[in-house]
Amino acid sequence: MDVKTTRLCPAIGAEISGLDVSDISSGNLIGELRQAVNEAGGLLVLRDQELTPEQHVDFSRAFGPLFGEAEQLQNTVKPYLHPDFPQIYRVSNKVVDGKVQGRQRAGTYWHSDVSFRKKPAMFSILYGIEVPPLGGDTVFTNMTLAYEALSDAMKEMIAPLHAVHHFAGASNAAWSHEKVEEEDLEGANVAEHPVVRIHAETGAKSLFVNPGNTSHLIGFSPEESNALLGFLYEHAIQPEFQYRHRWCPRDLIIWDNRCTLHYAISDYSADRYMHRTTVIGEEPVAA
Ligand code: SIN
Repeated sequence: MDVKTTRLCPAIGAEISGLDVSDISSGNLIGELRQAVNEAGGLLVLRDQELTPEQHVDFSRAFGPLFGEAEQLQNTVKPYLHPDFPQIYRVSNKVVDGKVQGRQRAGTYWHSDVSFRKKPAMFSILYGIEVPPLGGDTVFTNMTLAYEALSDAMKEMIAPLHAVHHFAGASNAAWSHEKVEEEDLEGANVAEHPVVRIHAETGAKSLFVNPGNTSHLIGFSPEESNALLGFLYEHAIQPEFQYRHRWCPRDLIIWDNRCTLHYAISDYSADRYMHRTTVIGEEPVAA
């Protein structure tokens, strides 16, 4: 097999072609992909993958325990899980015979998956089964680069800070607002995390706040918290830190939620149907 890795842009992302992940028994596939995702700033695009739901789950589980299996996701998204594979969250605008085929317009805001849990997501692994001919791109930003580009004075100021992450944030985003279960707005779906975290494998420091799920900075007034978070968000989503992915059918994307944010662009009406698995990460460690 002729495996080729190509960087997608200077900030983040690499594309791997010539690799078949339907069989995870070959060599040190998972170890090599972990290294590749770290080297690419937390984002890998694998083209032309032919995966059954079972193979997708087996491949994902090789990276660690999965939401939907080792730990339940919030009730709001349960109707969108695959009927036979609860580890698969279906993201789709399709309606067949009056039945929605997945969560419509999921993630139309900058976020890091499941950051409102004590142990937020490590990798998300999204498989594009049907993609619109135009539109429906996903944008990623590199939160390690964003951290590194801050001034020393700002790094020093935010180093000891912690923030509250809350599922309610995402629920207020356009498109999702009306379909949130009340019981998801408390308990396991609220967590405190450091604003700057250390990556467990690379040791790199990353900003770990996001407009989707971070409700406020601890110890600040709402005005102060909003101003500082607003600055950090604006800083983090500069085009220089981003990669925008235009989907082809059978693309499989792996991203590391510990050091990236992503945003699903809602600019299409054609069918879009994707399967996402989500690997549970560790408790974030402060820098
Ligand atoms: C997500 O936030 O996981 C969805 C991403 C996408 O649909 O592009």
